[in-house]
Amino acid sequence: MATRKFFVGGNWKMNGNKAEINGIIDFLSKGPLDPNVEVVVGVPAIYLDYSRSKLPRSIGVAAQNCYKVAKGAFTGENSSAMILDVGADWVILGHSERRNVFGENDELIGEKVRHALESGLSVIACIGETLDEREGGRTEEVVFRQTAAISKAIGQGSWEKVVLAYEPVWAIGTGKTASPEQAQEVHDQLRKWLAKEVSSDVSQKTRILYGGSVTAGNCKELAKKEDIDGFLVGGASLKPEFVNIINAKQ
Ligand code: PGA
Repeated sequence: MATRKFFVGGNWKMNGNKAEINGIIDFLSKGPLDPNVEVVVGVPAIYLDYSRSKLPRSIGVAAQNCYKVAKGAFTGENSSAMILDVGADWVILGHSERRNVFGENDELIGEKVRHALESGLSVIACIGETLDEREGGRTEEVVFRQTAAISKAIGQGSWEKVVLAYEPVWAIGTGKTASPEQAQEVHDQLRKWLAKEVSSDVSQKTRILYGGSVTAGNCKELAKKEDIDGFLVGGASLKPEFVNIINAKQ
C-alpha cells in the first residue's frame, strides 16, 4: 500500500492585497503546521513574487492559472516559464471557475496541463460535477471525462508531479460540503479509474484532494476517509482556521 503524503492547498482566488497577504503569511509562519503535510498556496499572479519571497520555504506557491505556451502575443496571460521565474513551482489548472466562468474546456485544460508539466511546474488539476450533473446521475461520467482529458495530456510518466482535486461545483463557496461518504465514493471511483486507465502504481500513488466548503469544522471527518489525501481550500484558506485544516490529521 503506497503512502500518500497528505496535501493541503489554499486557493486564494482573486482575494487579498499586500496587507491581507501579510496577515496570511503571519499565521502560516507561526503555525505550528504538521510537518507531515505538504502545504501549497494558490496566489493571484500579481502577488506570486511577493508571496514567494515572504512565505516560509517549506510552503509551496502555486499560480491559479497559466497559458499553454511559453511566450508570445497573448495579452493578459502568464506562462509557466514566468511562474517558475518568480520562484513558484505549482499551478492550479482546470478549476471550476476557469471552466464555468471563463469557458475553459477539457481540451484547453489538457493543453495547459501538458505545457505546465513540460515546463517543470507541478500541477493541481481540478475536476468536478455541477449540481445538475449530480442530480442527473452523471457524476462519474463527468469526472471520468475530465480526468481522461488530463490523463491524456500527462501520458505515462509525469503523474508524480500531479495532484488531482475533486471539487463538486455545487460545494464550492456554497457552504454545502460533500459528506465524507459522498466524497469518498467519488475518490474511490477515481482511484479505480486510474488503476484501469493508467496503472495501478499511479492509482496508488496519486493524491486525490477534496475541495468545496472545507472548514476547520468539517476537515477532520473528511480526512479520516481512506481515499481523501488532502484538501483544496478556498474561503477558509484566507483565515487562521487554515492552520487547523492543515493539521486535520492530528
Ligand atoms: P471553497 O473553494 O473552499 O471556498 O468552497 C474551494 C475551491 O474553489 O478550491
